[in-house]
Amino acid sequence: MEYDLGSSAGPCDAALGDSPHCGPLGDGKSDGDLPLPQPTESRRGHHFSVAAYNAKLLPDPLARPASARVSDRLQFHPLAPEPHRATPSKESGHMDRTTVDQLLTTTRTVRKRLDLSRPVEPAVIQECLELAIQAPNGGNQNRYHFVVVTDPVKRAAIGAIYKKVFYQEHAPLSGAGDPGLPVYQQGSATQQNSASYLADHLGEVPVHIIPCVESRFETAGTFRQATRYGSILPAAWSLMLALRSRGLGTAWTTLHLYHEKEVAALLGIPDDVTQVVHLGVAYYTGTEFKPGPRVPARARTYWDGWGQQR
Ligand SMILES: Cc1cc2nc3c(=O)[nH]c(=O)nc-3n(C[C@H](O)[C@H](O)[C@H](O)COP(=O)(O)O)c2cc1C
Repeated sequence: MEYDLGSSAGPCDAALGDSPHCGPLGDGKSDGDLPLPQPTESRRGHHFSVAAYNAKLLPDPLARPASARVSDRLQFHPLAPEPHRATPSKESGHMDRTTVDQLLTTTRTVRKRLDLSRPVEPAVIQECLELAIQAPNGGNQNRYHFVVVTDPVKRAAIGAIYKKVFYQEHAPLSGAGDPGLPVYQQGSATQQNSASYLADHLGEVPVHIIPCVESRFETAGTFRQATRYGSILPAAWSLMLALRSRGLGTAWTTLHLYHEKEVAALLGIPDDVTQVVHLGVAYYTGTEFKPGPRVPARARTYWDGWGQQR
């Protein structure tokens, strides 16, 4: 897969970030196939119209022919409140911290509260993906890809693979009493119940998203693995946050990866691409989510050396 990172882009190590060795991050102009929407005036200054963006570029991204696809070239975020070159406005420094903290602490893995009968608009998925790709990625190389599956037959096939792993393959592989066994298979009755429910219904979840990253790196060293996984997992989490803010819940799962190749064949994912997670997405029922139980970060925070706490 080739990327146009700009005319003067040079070879860039995935982990170098903003190193001068990396290509330019762009000049704020749209250099893709389609122009970015022009800023419109409002009382609060310049902003991009999300509706205009979606109407122009993303009427139905899942149905667009390959020839009309938005270019792989770097573009600045279309949903940003201001063009990136504009002087930061007063508003940009003020966030509603209560809402942000609530979003961060109550975005859960949703299983039983996924609304399996309510359709999900492709545009909202694309909008959340545009937000998600603002997450960091190694060297800003943009090696992420997202396979969105809405076809009922393909969803059912993925669901069947997941169910087979969940009930027949995974527990024996991990072994009874294995502390590595995921909580959802060794935990409370509620957790098990929730996990089994998902295994029974995954194929019916209206949208499946498989975030992928280019290249294979299972035999690579820590640096390369961390860089590759780190170039897609932050976006997957941002996607969950963006979806949650729009009333959509996500079940983060990985069990299908036991049969990654089977799913790759089903979806035409190339051999040199790695799937990293599977996200089952649907509108959620109810309104309340609570913070999840966790070992407090304080108990796992070390200052100036492993084990040294304050
Ligand atoms: C790397 C990873 C793999 C996971 N795999 C699965 C899975 O295959 N099936 C599942 O039901 N949940 C899976 N989960 C969800 C976790 O079980 C869940 O995040 C955890 O129990 C905490 O619950 P919460 O997300 O609601 O806070 C996975 C989560 C992560 C981060």
